[in-house]
Amino acid sequence: MRQTPFRNPTIMANWSELNDREPAYALVARVDLVVIRYDDEVSVMYGRCHHPGALLAHGFIDGPNLICGVHYWDYRYESGVSE
Ligand code: FES
Repeated sequence: MRQTPFRNPTIMANWSELNDREPAYALVARVDLVVIRYDDEVSVMYGRCHHPGALLAHGFIDGPNLICGVHYWDYRYESGVSE
């Protein structure tokens, strides 16, 4: 019987190991994710860039944006939407 990840919670990151505004990589159910801690909040987004699919965990934060490190596409880390 196939189980969904929602029935079996998975720890994707430990709060104490996340650095403020430093993208971190997580893999859940074979899906790449990027985890960003900012102040007392956290954002978890699909971890592949919508350009050709680079890992966003390899990017960096610039103001309110997560920037892909390959060609610099931007994603608001609070919403995932491009500026
Ligand atoms: S791979 Fe992310 S902007 Fe090109």
